Amino acid sequence: MMNHHTIEISASLLAADYANMARDVTRAVQAGVDSFHFDVMDGHYVPNIALSPHHLTALRPYTDKPFSLHLELGNPDDVLDTFGNLDADIISFQWDRSPDPKATIERIKARKVEVSICVNLDVALEDILPYINMVDEILLLGVHPGFGGQAMDKNMGERISQLKRMIDQEKPSVPIAIDGGVSLQTAPILIDAGATRLISGSALFSAADMAEFIKRMREN
Ligand code: DX5
Ligand code: ZN
Repeated sequence: MMNHHTIEISASLLAADYANMARDVTRAVQAGVDSFHFDVMDGHYVPNIALSPHHLTALRPYTDKPFSLHLELGNPDDVLDTFGNLDADIISFQWDRSPDPKATIERIKARKVEVSICVNLDVALEDILPYINMVDEILLLGVHPGFGGQAMDKNMGERISQLKRMIDQEKPSVPIAIDGGVSLQTAPILIDAGATRLISGSALFSAADMAEFIKRMREN
């Protein structure tokens, strides 16, 4: 199927070389990525410990591309309290971890940052219906959060189609982003179903030719 939307490719820096992150940001920009994705993990909500808001600040001088902050941790409100300046263009929080998702959405918007809710595989899409018209993006996880390099759930195509129908009724401008298990094999299914933002970690950073990988992801 032809896709009539612009596909945005975001590099998930969870899969970057931590000893050379600025180099990897520059390399990904030169290869043609549209944005960068930072997974903040606290070792509690997920067993992994990953990037922090300090990485966004450190890497901000290396590119003008948008930075998305993905909070995979206990309570997103704690991070919003602690960090005055998050250097993010969009903040995505685990919907299931906020004590009051509407309040968290408003707090992020008050910072003049775009807001995204991240939805785990085990969440029924009906549960996020009330939030669609409040957000700038819905991020669907294709894997259980915590680690890169996992295989994508088999039902993502169907899940995206269902979400797309809900969005078309509520607020058609809201893009669907997919995180976890995005590869050259899964991308065509995601794009056909209506996703326009593809976040890729291990597949992107392990590609022999990153520019070619990005080109082929878009062509799907
Ligand atoms: C998973 C993270 C993803 C991860 C995706 O908890 O939120 O951003 O980096 O990695 P890949 O693309 O390797 O599945
Ligand atoms: Zn992520």
